[in-house]
Amino acid sequence: RYDRRNRPCRYDIDLFTPRFMSIFESLVPSDEEISKQKQLLTTLSRLINKEWPNSKLYVYGSCANSFGFSNSDIDLCLSIDNTEMSKVDIILKLADILHAGNLQNIQALTRARVPIVKLMDPNTGLSCDICVNNLLAVVNTKLLRDYSQIDKRVRPLAFLVKHWAKSRCVNETYQGTLSSYAYVIMCIHFLQSQRILPCLQGMEPTYYATVDNNVYAFFDQVDKLSGFGAQRKDTVSRLLWAFFHYWAYKHNYTKDVISIRTGRTISKNMKDWTRRVGNDRHLICIEDPFETSHDLGRVVDSRSIWTLREEFERAAEIMQYDPIPNVTLFEPH
Ligand code: CTP
Ligand code: MG
Repeated sequence: RYDRRNRPCRYDIDLFTPRFMSIFESLVPSDEEISKQKQLLTTLSRLINKEWPNSKLYVYGSCANSFGFSNSDIDLCLSIDNTEMSKVDIILKLADILHAGNLQNIQALTRARVPIVKLMDPNTGLSCDICVNNLLAVVNTKLLRDYSQIDKRVRPLAFLVKHWAKSRCVNETYQGTLSSYAYVIMCIHFLQSQRILPCLQGMEPTYYATVDNNVYAFFDQVDKLSGFGAQRKDTVSRLLWAFFHYWAYKHNYTKDVISIRTGRTISKNMKDWTRRVGNDRHLICIEDPFETSHDLGRVVDSRSIWTLREEFERAAEIMQYDPIPNVTLFEPH
């Protein structure tokens, strides 16, 4: 078989960067949308603080990690110290508070893995989900945002990968494919391997967060790191080619775990992720940067791993040969 692993990139790859950049720009939320999001956060914070003065509402997920598309739902996390009430009681009470505040389509999903309240705000037209005391998600959101500020190619690459995954229906965790969070981490890992991003958790910490008595720390003075990857001149389309090439032909699915916490790959052996335990099959191993026993690839099963790998190969071949990769890459499945 022709060895694709070491083949060079097409000579004209850089010519496609302006076209990929205009797709990226079309996905970015407008200033108006961002101000609506802020407005909704203020409204909800006021409403909830009247009932629980010591609580605080945080934005996490795509609206805060800088990888959000326009028109995405807002993920909020209510931080509250209340030892008398269970999480479910807090969710139910929260639903009542929101009702009284004239928010619409309120649903309390108390039996979900992460219990949430869903709502729609008639003033802004925005929808959001509120969870309770899930502060590690707030911390990992900051880590992703900090990475996005180090090099201006991070956001375009991650947006295009997310857009590809959504177009090709491989961004559905309930169908055994990967979350957006996992794809962004795959991009960060790839850029670390290209020396375009550093490893913030491997540097002298400047930021500390305590969640459930555990301390999480990393370097967050990212303004001091601008220019980190400046020696690497790769354009966005070249990086997109190399990203898919990596996941199609270079990643070792049998042996390796990607780990942005360490800035490298580590072996499945070292993590004892070699066998199937319960539903964790470890067919594509993506270590959560903070919950290190979490494999973000655990949703992938013996069927969906081939769906994913075939999609990576399709994407790599398109980036290599297609006359209009900026169109064909995103053709619906
Ligand atoms: N999250 C997490 N662990 C996971 C999945 C998600 O901690 N296994 C948290 C992360 O903080 C992530 C947030 O939940 O930023 C939202 O996850 P997800 O919906 O996958 O990503 P979004 O960035 O919101 O992407 P999308 O634009 O597709 O909504
Ligand atoms: Mg989301």
